[in-house]
Amino acid sequence: MNWFKKRINMFLVDYINRKKMGRDIDYFDDDIFIVSYPKSGNTWMRFIIGNLIYDDFNFKNMEELIPDIYVVPNEILKKYPRPRILKSHEYYHPKYKKVIYIVRDPRSVAVSYYFHLKKFNVLDEKISFQDFLERFLDGTLDNYGTWEENVKSWVFMKNQDLENFLLIKYEDLSNNIEEEVRKVIRFLRLSVSNDKFLKAIEKSKFENMKENEKRLSDETKVLKNTKKDIPFIRSGRIDEWLNYFTENDIRKLKDRFGNTMNAFGYI
Ligand code: A3P
Repeated sequence: MNWFKKRINMFLVDYINRKKMGRDIDYFDDDIFIVSYPKSGNTWMRFIIGNLIYDDFNFKNMEELIPDIYVVPNEILKKYPRPRILKSHEYYHPKYKKVIYIVRDPRSVAVSYYFHLKKFNVLDEKISFQDFLERFLDGTLDNYGTWEENVKSWVFMKNQDLENFLLIKYEDLSNNIEEEVRKVIRFLRLSVSNDKFLKAIEKSKFENMKENEKRLSDETKVLKNTKKDIPFIRSGRIDEWLNYFTENDIRKLKDRFGNTMNAFGYI
């Protein structure tokens, strides 16, 4: 009987651990997190760091090397080599000791998210950008807070902790990738040859990541069953929002997130 109870117990613990994902996972003190609100360039950063550290980081092996905490269950994550580098979208979490936080103009984030949720069959094909925008502004699309809550929570809590918090803007990556990658190398205290540095930048270029996605998407767990006519590496622009936002949309966005957009130089 005791033996039976023990087996049931073990089964339950294992089951709960497998179910544990996202914010509830177990943490280690040396974990490193790449955090961002969705659609802010997290995969781009994973490719940069992945290719600085490993020989060939790509869509197929990304969950094995820099796992997504919403894709790989806790029980498996616990067995990853340390220090783990993990992808996350969470708002501030006190257990996240060392964090690279990526911020992107919320106008670009909104457009990117609109297509992303269609690609992943979460949004109906016919929903208009304007209807989607209401939900984006209210933060009801996911559990990560609004764009502003997410960004502010990290900057407010961690911005003074320069040893453990690096803020990177998507737009700066777009305009001057070399300088931003150097910041990442210094922050993570990586030792990287010039050759490796240049290769990592080459492999993380928009066109190369796009080609990689095309070649490997059928073998990539998270992309396999998504709409192929909307690519994940989709547009990569910083001004595409101009084609989607009406004057009224911009007013609404500024009413909600204006102060934070201002602080980041977006308006
Ligand atoms: P768009 O939909 O605007 O093209 P995330 O990885 O956080 O989900 O972010 C995805 C967004 O980052 C997408 O934006 C994607 O195209 C963009 N992105 C990914 N890799 C990029 C790169 N190398 N250069 C520019 N943008 C990139």
